Amino acid sequence: MTERSGENLDRESLQEMDHHFFHPWDSPNLLDQNARTVISSGHDATVVDADGHEILDGPSGMWCLNLGHGVEEIIEAMTEQARTMVYSSPWGTANPPSAILSDRLAEIAPGDLNRVMLTTGGSTANDSALRFAAYYNNVMGRPEKKHFISRQKAYHGSTLLAASVSGKERDKYYVDLLTDMATFLSAPNPYRRPAGMTVEAFCDTLIDEFEETIERIGANKIAAYIAEPVLASGGVIVPPAGYNKRMWEVCRANDILYISDEVVTGFGRLGAFFASKDVFDIEPDIITCAKGLTSGYAPMGAAIISERIIENIRQKCGDDPSIAFSNGYTYSGHPVACAAALKTIEIIERDNVCGHVRELAPYFQAKMQELHDIPIVGDVRGTGLMVAVEANEEIDGSLEQDRAIGNRIDAHCQALGLLVRPTVNLCVLSPVLTISKSDVDEMVYRLRQGIERAYEDLKREGVISA
Ligand SMILES: Cc1ncc(COP(=O)(O)O)c(C=O)c1O
Repeated sequence: MTERSGENLDRESLQEMDHHFFHPWDSPNLLDQNARTVISSGHDATVVDADGHEILDGPSGMWCLNLGHGVEEIIEAMTEQARTMVYSSPWGTANPPSAILSDRLAEIAPGDLNRVMLTTGGSTANDSALRFAAYYNNVMGRPEKKHFISRQKAYHGSTLLAASVSGKERDKYYVDLLTDMATFLSAPNPYRRPAGMTVEAFCDTLIDEFEETIERIGANKIAAYIAEPVLASGGVIVPPAGYNKRMWEVCRANDILYISDEVVTGFGRLGAFFASKDVFDIEPDIITCAKGLTSGYAPMGAAIISERIIENIRQKCGDDPSIAFSNGYTYSGHPVACAAALKTIEIIERDNVCGHVRELAPYFQAKMQELHDIPIVGDVRGTGLMVAVEANEEIDGSLEQDRAIGNRIDAHCQALGLLVRPTVNLCVLSPVLTISKSDVDEMVYRLRQGIERAYEDLKREGVISA
């Protein structure tokens, strides 16, 4: 039960009211049919629904609650900040938490990534980075250098620009995008490589494809390459060894900016604050982040920009104020969000959360691999504390059928006390980073049961042969 001005609201009433919430990716014609699980509270790696059921939070919200639910220290820091000073305009003024946070991010980010644009989430971080890349080339006197290179299966957000460089085909139905702005390379998914090809040879073909694309379009027309180090919502696609580094080297050789989208991989998920340098040995020109930046306690993102680029602009334009980068938000550097981020960073460092992830990840991934013996499981893949389980080719069919599989696994898992993130014929898990070994065991146990029950359903209904 939830109270609203003396009124007790049960689950059904809340679900009824929720029909007015047009959720992300909702179909307008089905708004009145939705009956989502209502999450009423949470602690650590667990949420509690409106009927009082405890459910393990497999995706940690939306890969964002890196430190888990109910972290008192973050709540107190936010409360204290709201009480002291809730807002100051990022245009004309500075405030202590946004100044300190920007300084901290410059310190944590690799190489010369020193200049921080604070945004309202991951989409706006990527949007700002892409706009900045185009702006940079205008300022540098090469306005034809505007094209973006991305990959199929990439997801960079839901603003027009971020969506236009996102490569998930099924997200492109019915929405308008800036289609001539971006070119999409193949997804670096070793599971989907051509039959008979080694992973090393597959990686070579991906690099060749990038070089040939540059040759065809012209390096003088390409502003930036944008890439998640591990493609997250495209299905936790872990590229072949050496791929990210080689793609970065191609960018360097061709004067193409490298934007590393660390919205998911940042803040500990792969056992480092930023995976770009510490895991993949690259120094991007821009890193974007969000989600784990505040551990999901407040909406915020950041685009962290290389000093080299700023210096190039300074060299070119001196102190001409008319070249201002007209981009930013009312809530850029919101003090309460910054307080959440600063406390998150403090806790990650103090409690060696990245070390915990590095230690636990091999166990987590090995336990997940045990699911391979379920006949409908085609691939189990992941790294750090992110993993995807993909149904096999035999039942890889229409969008409707794929969704039905994902949704069925989701429904069974929820009944068993586990939230998963169904993404079409996949389900994805990215638990809170502070999770214990016994919670990992429990997650895998429930997931196995959920997938096995979905398999029994599909056999019974004749979708797959017994
Ligand atoms: C890699 C990546 N980039 C960008 C975004 C967009 O972030 P937001 O939803 O905070 O705008 C997401 C969201 O899931 C993401 O996974």
